[in-house]
Amino acid sequence: VVRPAAVIARLDARALATARAARGFMPDEEGLALAGAALTAPRPGPWLEVGSYCGRSTAYLGAAAVGCGTTLVTVDHHRGSEENQPGEQYHDTDLVDDAGRVDTLPGLRRTLRDAGLERTVVAIVGPSPTVAAIWATPLSFLFLDGGHSPAVQHGDFDSWSPHLRRGGLLAIHDVFPDPRDGGRPPYEIYLRALDSGDFGEVSATGSLRVLRRR
Ligand SMILES: C[S@@+](CC[C@H](N)C(=O)[O-])C[C@H]1O[C@@H](n2cnc3c(N)ncnc32)[C@H](O)[C@@H]1O
Repeated sequence: VVRPAAVIARLDARALATARAARGFMPDEEGLALAGAALTAPRPGPWLEVGSYCGRSTAYLGAAAVGCGTTLVTVDHHRGSEENQPGEQYHDTDLVDDAGRVDTLPGLRRTLRDAGLERTVVAIVGPSPTVAAIWATPLSFLFLDGGHSPAVQHGDFDSWSPHLRRGGLLAIHDVFPDPRDGGRPPYEIYLRALDSGDFGEVSATGSLRVLRRR
């Protein structure tokens, strides 16, 4: 585990500033923990994130990827999760296209441009399981923060975790052991990873958990 001040010293300053200002769902403490974990992933990568939204966590990770010389791939269909749809708690009326559908891709592009990460981060637009089904490159860091429904979370764990190489790191967001704090699926896949015996826990920061593949 790398301490926050030591993490900041190793992050690209422009990308970090952009991450901190970006729209999204990653508190700074967790963003630094995420970036700090990625710094300890086996070289050379690549790293992959599921759930780009407008690029907040992407920019934290990208800020670490710059110094490591690795590529970060970020996957999202950019149509929002259930809670982002019109009328739901996390709907943002700024993030719709000319047909009124949720569209977070322009937000991601803006974040990557402002962060200076357009050569470090590759954005893939599409459903996560469809992308995973054609993926073949071993990953050294995997961050799961896509849809939070049971089917999507378990599907992401099933389809992406086999691509993580030995010694690689798995980060999961919104892990809440107490049901009063949040939804179950991220906690369930965290338990599945531990119960499989294939992963050991490395760190816990807020709702972020980082595990290492044995
Ligand atoms: C919680 S947000 C990601 C937040 C982001 N990591 C941040 O730091 O702000 C979840 C994202 O997952 C995406 N998503 C949900 N289900 C998906 C799926 N099946 N395939 C691809 N993306 C999906 C949504 O479009 C949404 O942008």
